[in-house]
Amino acid sequence: MKIAPSILSADFANLQRDIKIVEDAGAEYLHLDVMDGHFVPNLSFGVPLIKALRPNSSLIFDCHLMVSRPEDYISPLAEAGVQIIGVHYEATPHIYRMVQLIHQAGCKAEVVLNPGTPISVLQELLPVVDAVLIMTVNPGFGGQKFIPETLDKIAQLATLKKAQGLTFEIEVDGGIDEKTSVLCQARGATVAVAGSFVFESQSPAAQVKLLHKVTGE
Ligand code: DX5
Ligand code: ZN
Repeated sequence: MKIAPSILSADFANLQRDIKIVEDAGAEYLHLDVMDGHFVPNLSFGVPLIKALRPNSSLIFDCHLMVSRPEDYISPLAEAGVQIIGVHYEATPHIYRMVQLIHQAGCKAEVVLNPGTPISVLQELLPVVDAVLIMTVNPGFGGQKFIPETLDKIAQLATLKKAQGLTFEIEVDGGIDEKTSVLCQARGATVAVAGSFVFESQSPAAQVKLLHKVTGE
């Protein structure tokens, strides 16, 4: 699997250092959790911080928007150098338009589903998305416990992907560690987001390498 460390659990006073550690350890993506204190009950960081980090890393920047008006953030994120923008299905009445806006801004489009939202809502979107992010915890906070019922959703999505001959990435986010990553991969997930498992450890580099090792890359 591709590994996407989430800086939500990194040392905010040493973000550049922490990003370099996971980049040198072989991570593919950097997962950036933007929260507005409205769509989710927590605040994190926004575009200016992402813009400041961009020149110091070659990682693919994958922004997970947990905000109530995602349309307001798409152009600024693209201009800040983010390559993948993820919008929650639950955050907008116009998810198809969000995908179009993301593509118009020159980025890859990712649709994110909360644990309580079924895969069936994606039916019309699957041919046009570049990635689907399945939340394996409720969004808003790092360090929560993996919700096992989400495994079946990953399998359902992977079945649809295969049946339609599509190539979008299947990302998982929340409670990912050396065990849950393997369970998700077995159902068809291709990208593992990991926050606390990577950064709240003695060696973030060793944790990235361990995730690669257990998921066969
Ligand atoms: C939660 C965020 C996650 C978070 C994951 O809303 O979307 O990306 O950083 O943290 P862990 O890996 O600790 O569950
Ligand atoms: Zn996230």
